[in-house]
Amino acid sequence: MIQGKIKLPGDKSISHRAALFSALREGESHFTNFNLNNDCKATLSCLEKLGIEHKKRGTNLTIFGKSFDKWQKPNAALDAQNSGTTARLLSGLLAALPFDTKLVGDSSLSNRPMDRVVKPLQKMGARIDTTLGCLPLTFTRKVPLQGIAYTTPMASAQVKSAILLAGLYAEGKTKVTENSITRDHTERMLSLNSEITDKQKHIESSSLNSIPDLSMEIPGDFSSAAFFICAALAIPGSSLRISRVSLNPTRIGLINVLKEMGAQLEFNIEQEKPEPIGTIDVSASKLQNLNISKKIIPNIIDEIPILAVLATQAHGDLVLRNAEELRYKESDRINTIVQNLRKLDVEVDEFKDGFNISGPQKLGPGTIETHGDHRIAMAFSIANQFTNSHIEIDDPECAAVSFPGFYKTLDSIVK
Ligand code: S3P
Repeated sequence: MIQGKIKLPGDKSISHRAALFSALREGESHFTNFNLNNDCKATLSCLEKLGIEHKKRGTNLTIFGKSFDKWQKPNAALDAQNSGTTARLLSGLLAALPFDTKLVGDSSLSNRPMDRVVKPLQKMGARIDTTLGCLPLTFTRKVPLQGIAYTTPMASAQVKSAILLAGLYAEGKTKVTENSITRDHTERMLSLNSEITDKQKHIESSSLNSIPDLSMEIPGDFSSAAFFICAALAIPGSSLRISRVSLNPTRIGLINVLKEMGAQLEFNIEQEKPEPIGTIDVSASKLQNLNISKKIIPNIIDEIPILAVLATQAHGDLVLRNAEELRYKESDRINTIVQNLRKLDVEVDEFKDGFNISGPQKLGPGTIETHGDHRIAMAFSIANQFTNSHIEIDDPECAAVSFPGFYKTLDSIVK
């Protein structure tokens, strides 16, 4: 069973933004519980090449920011490695810098769509060349960007953030409208004006926005917490407390889904600003699968791999539709989830935009093909806790993309 109390490394999305945004502000910014996973290290190393230094002590991080006009021309390509957030958010800034840059990534990131950020940035006047819509990208012509009004065609906080960042260095106002409300760390951290009307969210940025002092405790990553929450729910006799974890409402859609499934789960917000932080208590529960509503998909998007694994232990059908965005993550997550569940003898239907899993089902032995996707490695490591059969993970180390200490933390609560 799962028993204990844990505190998790800092939220990945917030850590990226803490580094990138404080890099734009002259002077020192201090962060505690910064996540030094591979993705956030990629952001720090791109910033170093642009002349922004940092100092680490344990999980404390200091960023020595500079106003944008003092950023330096890098003498090599910027490498976002496996990190979509690095590549997409940084693109918003590279588009506005007065010198040429090149942005590259590993083979997985180089297959993920970049035209979703390049197109709106081009509308703002940026000259960006892509490689068939993907990385490598080159940023060239340097004329001042113009603000735009843009409705994001897909639910993506990365696209929203890239445009709003470019808007900080463009002439006039930039307004992003989203039809589905995605994680709001960018607008919160930069104190951008936003309003919700008729189920749409509108956010504005302009050169009049100054970067606030962002020094903060980075909340524990809810997306990492999700693996342990689901383990505790499904393993009889379990109880788990997670402290100082992010409880940002745009991130914790999984809590609503799990409660609707019958989870015994309580949370308590201890701090509201700059980001909500609190404690989650969860214990083993009898769970009923359900239809996931379209509206909540953007707020559970990174938790779907572990939700799928949990569904094999719950009763009834978990039906997930309207989630085609999953096909553009670190792997095609609809396919990697379905194929790997089938390897464990689970019956599952695959749709273009989701899947149907009926539970409960016994998990057989098998080897999981992660395709280098950290969340697949972690989700199926939890599946291994649900069965006496052995589940092997082909590349367990890829968990370090978001959570280098995942296996150690898991060992510490498995009793
Ligand atoms: C992120 C946004 C989401 C999410 C990713 C992190 C962010 O991606 O899946 O893990 O930090 O903005 P999309 O913007 O592509 O939906």
